Order: sequence, then structure tokens, then C-alpha cells
Amino acid sequence: MISLQGIRKIFSTKDGPVSAVDGVDLEIKQGEIFGIIGYSGAGKSTLIRMLNMLERPTEGKVIVAGEDLSTLSKKDLRKARQNIGMIFQHFNLLWSRTVRENISFPLEIAGIPKKEREKRVNELIELVGLEGRGESYPSQLSGGQKQRVGIARALANNPKVLLCDEATSALDPKTTDSILDLLVDINKKLGLTIILITHEMHVIRKICHQVAVMEAGKVVEQGPVLNVFRKPKEQMTKEFVKQVTEPEETKETIQHLITENPNGKVVQLTFVGDEAERPLITDLIRTFDIEVNILQGKITKTQEGSYGALFVNLTGNKALIEQAIAFIREKGVEVEVVAGE
Ligand SMILES: Nc1ncnc2c1ncn2[C@@H]1O[C@H](COP(=O)(O)OP(=O)(O)OP(=O)(O)O)[C@@H](O)[C@H]1O
Ligand SMILES: [Mg+2]
Repeated sequence: MISLQGIRKIFSTKDGPVSAVDGVDLEIKQGEIFGIIGYSGAGKSTLIRMLNMLERPTEGKVIVAGEDLSTLSKKDLRKARQNIGMIFQHFNLLWSRTVRENISFPLEIAGIPKKEREKRVNELIELVGLEGRGESYPSQLSGGQKQRVGIARALANNPKVLLCDEATSALDPKTTDSILDLLVDINKKLGLTIILITHEMHVIRKICHQVAVMEAGKVVEQGPVLNVFRKPKEQMTKEFVKQVTEPEETKETIQHLITENPNGKVVQLTFVGDEAERPLITDLIRTFDIEVNILQGKITKTQEGSYGALFVNLTGNKALIEQAIAFIREKGVEVEVVAGE
């Protein structure tokens, strides 16, 4: 569906050339929700803007639905762009137009007759859950509602691809979740391919099928979300994965516990896919005469199955603790001893 081949972008500035994207290859399949994560300045926005030629690559090819965008004439590019919608962190709405007029705007540009426009706007308002707000102005809406207008406007011309540049970064966690749910909903309903960039692993975890990690203009790691969560290779990826699995207070708790229970061990159990955490803990307690305390942990759902880590304190006979750890490994669950002799 989308293929990026050897993409580079060098900006010329007064202070000399700035390399923003430095040789990126990516393949994105139709119907996929593809996440790109990275810290500020990694080149994410520059990369996503090259997908619709808002930014022209210095080098490389951008192929969308079989067309190499960099070779198109202005007119053909305009047409190709109708297949690619985009939403932004700060919504980029027209403030003097109502919700209805904002959503209608791309249809006017595309020359759709008035009657048809009105019908389409009604459908879109319903699709994004803005019934009854059509006559409001953006300033009268909450952040989440504004982004719903942004989404409806981006979908007006029935694009095949939706680009999201930090679309939830200006929203609180609950509103973020509701917008992410909407994106999953339209991905399923319309078979829309979605490419989103973010600096929050929570966003990737919740809705993406595939993830690419960007650092200094390069993709340093990529793959299906669960695989990357299970075995992050790069240090940066590990940090991002920790955002969703390891609460800040865990380290302190662990230190504290080991000082209190010198005979114990704290192990981190990582669950991926359909391995159930509850039966394992129950089995452990039934089989071994040791104390098993769950300290902390979070099992969360991804688009491809559940994922998470539990921090468990095992105390009692040392040999039995060793046996218990071997038992967990046999069950196919990853165990790492994080504290204790
Ligand atoms: N128009 C421009 N002119 C010159 N340099 C630019 C331009 N746009 C981006 N850059 C530089 O390119 C690099 C990548 O910027 P980009 O905005 O793509 O990063 P980002 O990953 O989106 O960051 P953020 O998370 O802060 O949005 C930065 O060093 C930035 O300063
Ligand atoms: Mg950016």
C-alpha cells in the first residue's frame, strides 16, 4: 500500500544543512495501523509529511497505492492527495467556520455539489459522534470534539490513508482513549490504513499493529507491536516499552522489599499474547510451599493480544524458589530475577 524507499530529507538553514530524515525504508500494508514512535526531533513529522508531499524528500521514493508521488505533476499530485487525509496535534480547524462548514470545506474544494455535500457531512458527523454539534464553532468545542471534527474533515473525500501527527498529544488521557477508539473503529469500518506518530507508547500499545522506532532520522527498530514489546532490541525501544509496563514506583518498592526480606527474590514475569497470568500464579501457590506476593504489574490489551509484566516477590526456602522459577519458565513465561540473591 505504502512504500518508502531510501527516504532522506535535508533542510538547508542559515546555519547549514540539517538532516531530518536519514535513509528510511518502510512498507505499510493496506488496512494496517502503523505507529511511528520517537523523541522530539527524531524526524517523525518530517517523515509523515513526506507521505503526502507536504515536504518533498531530498532523496528516495514515496509510493502510495502504486504511484510514485515525487514524479507526479501538480495536478496529479492534487488528485493523489485526496486519497490521503491528515490530522494534527492542534487540529488546524477554520475558526470562523462551523463544524459543518469545516467538514464541508474539502468537499467544496473537490467541487462536490451542495446537496451531495450536505448528505456526506451528515454521514461524517454521525461517524465521528458529533450529532447535534454541527452548528457549533470550534471555540465552543472540547479538545476531543475538535479532533473529531479534524477526523471527519480528513475523511470527507473517502481517503484510503489517514496520517495522524501527534493527534492525541494535546488531549487528556481519557479523551485520548476515546479518540483512539474512534480511530480503531474507522480502521475496521472503512478498512482505512492509518499511520500515526507519537511519543507515547500507550498510543502504540492500544491501537497499532506495527511499530517503527525512530531516532536521529533513522528507523532503529520495527515489527509487529507484540514482538517489539516482547523483545525490544534497542535501548531506546526498551525505554518506550517501560512506559507501558513498569510504573515509576516499582524500583523503590523492590529495593525496599529486598532489604526487608533478604531470603526472597523479586522476579519480573512477562506475559505475551494469550498466556494467562492468573492460573500461573494460582499453580505456583498450589505447587510450592513458598510465599508469592504480587507487588505490581499491569496486563494490558493490544490489538494482537494481551501484554504485560508482573513483579512478584517470592519468599521462603531458597531451593523451592529456584524450583518455582524453573516451573514458570517451563510454562513458557519469561522470568527475570530483578532483585535478591
Ligand atoms: N522546515 C525545517 N527547516 C529546518 N529544519 C527543520 C525543519 N523541519 C524540521 N527540521 C529539523 O528536523 C529535525 C526533525 O524534526 P521533526 O519535526 O521531523 O521531528 P519530530 O520527531 O516530529 O519532533 P517532535 O516530536 O518535537 O514533533 C529537527 O532537528 C528539526 O529541527
Ligand atoms: Mg513532530
